[in-house]
Amino acid sequence: MMEWTDRHCRFFHRLLTRRALIYTEMVTTGAVLHGDRARLIGFHPAEHPVALQLGGSEPKALAACARIGADFGYDEINLNVGCPSDRVQEGRFGACLMAEPALVADCVAAMKAAVAIPVTVKCRIGIDEQDPALALEAFARAVEAAGVDALIVHARKAWLKGLSPRQNRDVPPLDYDVVFRLKAAHPRLPIVLNGGIATVEAARAQLARLDGVMMGRAAYQEPWRLLAVDPLLFDEAAPCASPKAAVRALMPYIERELARGVRLHSITRHLHGLFHAVPGARAFRRHLATQAVQPGACAAVLAEALALVVDRPAEMAQTAAA
Ligand SMILES: Cc1cc2nc3c(=O)[nH]c(=O)nc-3n(C[C@H](O)[C@H](O)[C@H](O)COP(=O)(O)O)c2cc1C
Repeated sequence: MMEWTDRHCRFFHRLLTRRALIYTEMVTTGAVLHGDRARLIGFHPAEHPVALQLGGSEPKALAACARIGADFGYDEINLNVGCPSDRVQEGRFGACLMAEPALVADCVAAMKAAVAIPVTVKCRIGIDEQDPALALEAFARAVEAAGVDALIVHARKAWLKGLSPRQNRDVPPLDYDVVFRLKAAHPRLPIVLNGGIATVEAARAQLARLDGVMMGRAAYQEPWRLLAVDPLLFDEAAPCASPKAAVRALMPYIERELARGVRLHSITRHLHGLFHAVPGARAFRRHLATQAVQPGACAAVLAEALALVVDRPAEMAQTAAA
């Protein structure tokens, strides 16, 4: 998620679930081809399985970037067909590509020809005046024929004219039924549902009808929920017994990153929602927000914040998810 997630966030989330597939934020083909590649798409081996999300609409450039991503060691390449921002529209990619299924199919085919890892697409159910039932079906048919390995559907329209990117995440209503109907019409195409899934239990409920569920804001804003992913969805123990145990497991990473010149806040900002609604959660957040931003702040600041909050055992994370 652009502006929110980064490699520190992904490393931390991996301490909460081994099994969830983690996605990078969108990185444009221009940035991958001409930018500081190590900084933009570098990642820690512990993040696996991790997918690189690309933004673009030029088949050759996307193929080249997919190859670069595969060489970096990513497990999947995903194409963004959901972002509604003006900047992205000007570049003729993101959600506006819902109107150009044939071009997206060419992009998918080019990426598939370039790499051996899965190539997936994340889309909306339609844009502007499109009828979702028709637009999503035409889009899915085109990318399926091009060999896409899975389609992740953010189950709401994007209004490119008139709504801001933020409004486009909440204002157009969710329509899961159109995604269920898509799955019924494309039984062999793996389809993943996204949008408004607030708990791991709600994710599990959708797995009866669909192949996967993607959580965005809930995973970022309340990362403690991820402790329920492995037990509830994969029948495996969570990697850490509780949120506090996960923070302790993060400490060696923090020490290493601080030694490389990373600021403490760059990492701890991803922890603000970890103790959401437990006693001391506000004090934990406040301590990090005020102290971790100080120049030279060290890992002790996080240890101090941790002492201010009550832990939430992993079993509670599961109960709360249910
Ligand atoms: C701050 C922010 C940044 C986002 N950036 C991306 C992005 O880079 N790529 C993407 O596919 N979706 C992005 N999204 C959309 C989410 O991935 C997701 O589709 C949307 O929030 C709906 O799912 P949710 O209700 O589980 O959050 C972003 C959302 C937010 C809130």
